[in-house]
Parts: sequence; structure tokens; C-alpha cells
Amino acid sequence: MRSALIGLATSLATLALTQRLDKPPLEPSLDYLQKGLLEHLGSVKSSYKQWGQGWIPADCKTMTEDANLSAADVETFNVQYVDCPSDPWVLCRHKDSPDPLENMIDLFGRVPVGARQYVRHIINLPDPSMTSAYNSNGNIAMFDRINGDLTVFIHETGHSLDLLGAYPDKPLSSSSNWTAKYALDSHVPDPYSQTNKLEDVAQNTVVAAYNLNVPGGFGSVEPKWREVQHQFGTIVGEQRVAGNLLVRGGTCVRRLANSKAVQAEGVSRVRRGLGKPPDVGLSDAVDVIEPVEFDTTEFCGRGS
Ligand SMILES: *[C@@H]1O[C@H](CO)[C@@H](O)[C@H](O)[C@H]1NC(C)=O
Ligand SMILES: *[C@@H]1O[C@H](CO)[C@@H](O)[C@H](O)[C@H]1NC(C)=O
Repeated sequence: MRSALIGLATSLATLALTQRLDKPPLEPSLDYLQKGLLEHLGSVKSSYKQWGQGWIPADCKTMTEDANLSAADVETFNVQYVDCPSDPWVLCRHKDSPDPLENMIDLFGRVPVGARQYVRHIINLPDPSMTSAYNSNGNIAMFDRINGDLTVFIHETGHSLDLLGAYPDKPLSSSSNWTAKYALDSHVPDPYSQTNKLEDVAQNTVVAAYNLNVPGGFGSVEPKWREVQHQFGTIVGEQRVAGNLLVRGGTCVRRLANSKAVQAEGVSRVRRGLGKPPDVGLSDAVDVIEPVEFDTTEFCGRGS
């Protein structure tokens, strides 16, 4: 059994964006999409290298301190996926997180690279009270257990695609097209989608990814698929125009600039005997995605 505790605060959101949706949920959760997604979005091969002692990406430090944890307990890794050979992702993990680093690398590597490139950093942080996640400015924080939960990675990446302007409608969640398409459906995918438009777009990103990558599509597991077809169909259409961002395969063509390497603790570099800060610059092989500030400090509660 899974229970959910969910909240949201966003500086970007207008009232309309944070308003609860009144359409009923089609299913109690999206857990039934997990199996097909894991089977058909295989992990991309990767290798990783840990950063030198004492350095952390500024955004990982911020997310760590926002959770009242110490950046000195966070390890940072350059993770090189074969579908983006020029530019590794810089991922962070608190040493007390219950999941091993390999779990995060594996699941993130299953997110199609067209969408993965809209994520800057991910950090895995411990939280004994609950499992949750949020996306802030393209950075994903995952609390407690990641387990094998690919839907959460796609959901959080979905916020990036929406709010960083990956789609023709920027952001999709506040566009008139989305509102018009949403109006044509009788349901939303699940109770979490009812939270507001942002979360409905993110959950429909999971449905769209399923429809695009699993043979037979969403209809093969959901007989009532027509009740949400305009929502996930809009994402299917928008991601196609944007270059099939949610379809497995291809290589990265753009990336978000990494946040700069900073010292985990505010003690002088010389005194701590630190080496030079790691180079976090992007290569010329990728275009730089224009940054946008947003914060969906949500709690995709997936405790059990
Ligand atoms: C961190 O601590 C501050 C001050 O005690 C508190 O207000 C805040 O809610 C805490 N944040 C989290 C995420 O626990
Ligand atoms: C959104 O709506 C506008 C105006 O109705 C239309 O021109 C545009 O093509 C739509 N965008 C997409 C991605 O369909």
C-alpha cells in the first residue's frame, strides 16, 4: 500500500496554476505504469567518477541546506551516459541516503535523453519521515528511497520540460492550448494529478512516456484511456514538435549549464587543503538551455 502526502509551493505559479482540479481520477495511482516503463525504457550504459573532497555544485548545496542537512555529508559524481558522451551529469548523494548511487544513475539513465537533458542536477537526500521529490530550476531533489520508481523520475523531468520551455507552448501548464485540451477530458490520470495544472502536466508526462515507448501504448493497460486522451495526447504532440523528447533513443543536443563548484564548508580552501574546483563547463557539442527560475516544492509522497 502506498499513501501520499502532497503539497506544493511555487513562486512562479499564479492562482490558476495552483488551483485544485475538479475532474475525478481515472486510477488510484500511476503505479500500474511502472512495469511497462521499466521493461521498455532500458537504462543507458554509463560510468561515473567522484569529485575531489570538499567540492559540491552550488545548487546541490542549496538543496541540502534547504533540507537542514550538511553539505559536508554530500558526495558529488560526474555521471557519463553513452548517449551524451561530451557532457556528464553532475549528480549528488547524501551519504545517509538509503539507496545506493547506482539506483539513481540507473533510473535517470532510463529517462529518454531528449527529456533527461532538461535536468541540471539530481540530489538524493535522506528523510526518515517520508519519500518525496521536487524540482527547482531544473534541479531534482529525491528524498528517502528512490527504489525502482521510474514514474517519479519521469514526473520530475516533466516539470523541467514544462517549465523550462521545452515545448512549443511555454510553459505548457499555463497555456491556453492546455486549458482547452484539458476541458475536453472527463478525468485526470490519478489523485495526484488533481493537485493543480503543474502536477497534472507532470503526471500526464508519465502517461505520454508510456504511450510513446511501450508497445500497444497506454490503451494496452488502461481500457478507459479515452477519458484522459486530450491531456496526454497534447504532451505527445508537443514533445514531437520539440524533437521527440520523450521517445527513447538519440543523443543529447542541449543541456542546462551546471551550477558552479563551491566548497561544501565555508572554510578557506587553502586551510582545508582542497585541490582546484572541478570543471563544470559544458562542451561545444551542446547548446545551452536558457535557465528559468521555478520551484515546485512538492511532496510526491510515495511512502509505503
Ligand atoms: C529547517 O529548519 C528551520 C528552522 O528550524 C525550519 O523552519 C524548517 O522548516 C526546516 N526545514 C525542513 C525542510 O525541515
Ligand atoms: C496553441 O494554440 C495556438 C493558437 O490557438 C496555435 O497557433 C498553436 O499551434 C498551438 N500550439 C500547438 C503546439 O499546438
